[in-house]
Amino acid sequence: TETDKTKADPVVVDFDGGIAFVTLNRPEKRNAMNPALNRRMMEVLDELEGDERCGVLVLRGAGSSWSAGMDLKEYFRDNDGKGRHVTLKSRRQSGGWWNRLMFFEKPTIAMVNGWCFGGAFTPLVACDLAIAANEATFGLSEINWGILPGGNVTRAVAEVMNHRDALYYIMTGETFGGEKAREMGLVNEAVPLAELETRVRKICASLLEKNPVTLKAAKDTFKRVRNMPWDLADDYIYAKLEQMLYLDKTRGRDEGLKQFLDDKTYRPGLGAYKR
Ligand code: ACO
Repeated sequence: TETDKTKADPVVVDFDGGIAFVTLNRPEKRNAMNPALNRRMMEVLDELEGDERCGVLVLRGAGSSWSAGMDLKEYFRDNDGKGRHVTLKSRRQSGGWWNRLMFFEKPTIAMVNGWCFGGAFTPLVACDLAIAANEATFGLSEINWGILPGGNVTRAVAEVMNHRDALYYIMTGETFGGEKAREMGLVNEAVPLAELETRVRKICASLLEKNPVTLKAAKDTFKRVRNMPWDLADDYIYAKLEQMLYLDKTRGRDEGLKQFLDDKTYRPGLGAYKR
C-alpha cells in the first residue's frame, strides 16, 4: 500500500493492486462535505483519471461515517449573507465532482461503511456500484432541518429508488439500514461491516480483469441511454461501440474472439478473455 497524502487532508488516496481507495477524511465531522473537501475531490479525480495505479476507484469514509452529507456549518450557514455568487460557487464545487464521478474514466464503487445522509446520496448514486455495510445508516434528512433534497439528491434517488420508497424517505426523513438500502435498489449488496472491504476487493478484482476501454464505454452508455427514445438509443449505442473499438488500441474484441474461436482457451459465457 502506498499513501499519497497526509492525514490532515480532507481526502486521502491509497493505492493497492490497481485499486485507488479514496477516503473522505474528516472523521471528527463525520466526513461532512465542506468546500475544502469538495475542491480537493475535484483535484483527486483529475489526478486519478490519468494515474495507472487506479484501475478501480473505491470511495469510502474515515471512521464511523461514509458521509454525513453537506457540512451544515461551512457549506450552508457560513456562506449565508456572503452573496449569492458565493453560494453558487460552493454548489458548483460539490456538483462538479459528483458529475465527474458519474462519468468517471475508471469504474467506481461506493463502499458505504457508516452514516450516509442527504447530500451524500448524490456521490453514492454517481458511483457505478455501491456496497454497504449492514450496519450503515442512510437518511434523506433534509426535511428534518427544513429544506428539500437539493444538490441533485432528489434526481439521484429518482434514478435508483421507486416512486413510493423515494417519496416515503424524502417526506419522513426516517433512517434505514444497509439491508433496506439493498432491497430498494439504492445499493447492490449489503454485507456485515467486517466483510465489507473483502467483498469490495473481490468485485474490484473482477473489474480489473476486464478491458478498461470497454468498461468505460459500457457504463457510460448504460447511464446515458435510459432517457433516450428507442431509435436515438440504438444509434448512440452503436456510436459508442464503434468509438470504443477505435479507442481500444489492444483490439480486445478481436483478441476475445481469437481466444474462443481459434485457441479455445476460454468460454465468453463463463469469464473474460486473458488480457
Ligand atoms: N455538517 C456539519 N457538521 C457535522 C455534520 C454535518 N452534516 N455531521 C456531523 N457534524 C459534526 C457535528 O457538529 C460534531 O461536531 P463537533 O464535534 O465540533 O460538535 C461532529 O461532527 C460529530 O457529530 P455528532 O453528532 O456528535 O456525531 P454522532 O456520531 O453522534 O452522530 C450523525 C452522527 C448521526 C451523522 C450526526 O452528526 C448527524 O445527524 N449529522 C447530520 C446529518 C445530516 O442531516 N446531514 C445533512 C444532510 S442534508 C444535506 O446534506 C443537504
